[in-house]
Amino acid sequence: MTQPNYGAYQYEIYFAGLTGVQPALPMTYPEWEARAEQALPPSVWSYVAGGAGDETTQDVNVTAFRQWGLIPRMLVGAKERDLSVELWGTRWPVPVFLAPIGVIGLCTQDGHGDLATARAAARTTAPMFASTLMADPLEAAAAEFGDTPGFFQLYCPTDRDLAQSLVSRAEAAGYTGIVVTLDTWVPGWRPRDLAGANFPQLRGKCLANYTSDPVFREKCGVDAATIDADPRSVVPYWAGIFGNPLTWDDLPWLRSLTTLPLILKGICHPEDARRAIDHGVDGIYCSTHGGRQANGGLPAIDCLPAVVAAAGDVPVLFDSGVRSGAEVVKALALGASAVGIGRPYAYGAALGGTDGIVHVVRSILAETDLIMAVDGYPALSDLTPEALRRVH
Ligand SMILES: Cc1cc2nc3c(=O)[nH]c(=O)nc-3n(C[C@H](O)[C@H](O)[C@H](O)COP(=O)(O)O)c2cc1C
Repeated sequence: MTQPNYGAYQYEIYFAGLTGVQPALPMTYPEWEARAEQALPPSVWSYVAGGAGDETTQDVNVTAFRQWGLIPRMLVGAKERDLSVELWGTRWPVPVFLAPIGVIGLCTQDGHGDLATARAAARTTAPMFASTLMADPLEAAAAEFGDTPGFFQLYCPTDRDLAQSLVSRAEAAGYTGIVVTLDTWVPGWRPRDLAGANFPQLRGKCLANYTSDPVFREKCGVDAATIDADPRSVVPYWAGIFGNPLTWDDLPWLRSLTTLPLILKGICHPEDARRAIDHGVDGIYCSTHGGRQANGGLPAIDCLPAVVAAAGDVPVLFDSGVRSGAEVVKALALGASAVGIGRPYAYGAALGGTDGIVHVVRSILAETDLIMAVDGYPALSDLTPEALRRVH
C-alpha cells in the first residue's frame, strides 16, 4: 500500500515559490510564538505562553529533548514511511494529536478556536482532544472533526451528576475516548497571570460546556435567560464545583462513567501508571501540563520511559515540550504511542485560524516524516530507544 507522503509538504512550498508565492506563515516555533504575541490580546497571550513559577519546568520540558539524538542508519531505503498507529481499535494515520487547550476558543480572531481546531483535525487527521473549557459546546466541535477521531478531556467536577452528563454528551456526540486530567483540580501558581489578575474562566470565558449542560443549568441557581445573556452569571457556582481532588477511591466510579477508552492525563510516576491500569484504565497520558501547573518538576520526556515500562501493553500518550518533528520522533522512540502538540497549534490558531493550525500540524508531520526518511526509520516500530543516543 502506498503511504501518504507527509514530507511532500516541503515540495508544495518550494514549487509555489517557483511561481512567486512565498509561505504565508512562518516555518519555525520561535517565529510562530513571536507572531502570536503580536496577534493575540495581551491577556490571552500571557495565559497561553505563561506557566507555573519561574517557568523552569516549562523550559526544561523543551530543552530536555536536546539531551537525546537519533542515530542515522544508512542504506535502509526508507522511500515510504508508515506513520500510522493502532490505538483502541482505531487506526490513526498519524501519531500526533492536538492536546486539550482550554482557551483555544479565544486564540482565533473570531473567538471560535475550538471549531477551528476541529476543522484542522478533519483536514490533517490529527485527532482533536477537546477540553472541558470550550468557547463552543463539545457537540459543535464534534460536528466539525469529520472522520478523524475526537477525544473529550474531562476536568472532573465535584458534582458527579455533572461529570456523568458531560461524559454522556461526549459519547452521544461521537467522541471516541475520555481523557481525565488529574493535575488541574486547582490552578498552579502562575505569576504571569497573577500579575495581570487574569484568569479567563473567572471572567466567564470558555464555559460553553457548562452553560449548555442540562445538569449544570438546573443546579447553578441562575435562570436560563440570565445564563444565556451573560455567562459571568454562573462563575461563582462554576468556581465552586470545577476542581475535584480525586483519589484512588474515586477511580471505580470514574471507570463506571463510560465504556469508551478511559485515559488518565498527568501521570508521570510508574507506580501511578501501574495502579491506574490495575483499576481498568485503557490509556496513560504522560504530561507535565506544559509546566503550567507545578514548577520545579522533571521534564516530561524524562518521565516517559519509566511510565512506558510500567504501562506494558497499555498505550501511553505524551505531551509537554514538543515544538517540531524532532521531538515527535524522540518521544515515539522513547515509547510514546502518540504525541500531543500543545502551544504550537495555539499559536497557529492565532496566526491563521484553521489554516494556521493546519500549517503547524503539517509542518510538524513533514519534519517527523523526513527525519524518519533521512535517518532510515521507515515505521514507528523502528523507532525504539535503541535509535537514540545521549548527547554529550
Ligand atoms: C493555554 C493552555 C491551556 C491548556 N488547557 C488545558 C485543558 O483545558 N486541559 C488539559 O488537560 N490540558 C490543558 N493544557 C495542557 C495541554 O494539554 C498540554 O499538556 C500542554 O500544552 C503541553 O505543553 P506544551 O504546550 O508546552 O508542549 C493547556 C495548555 C495550554 C498552553
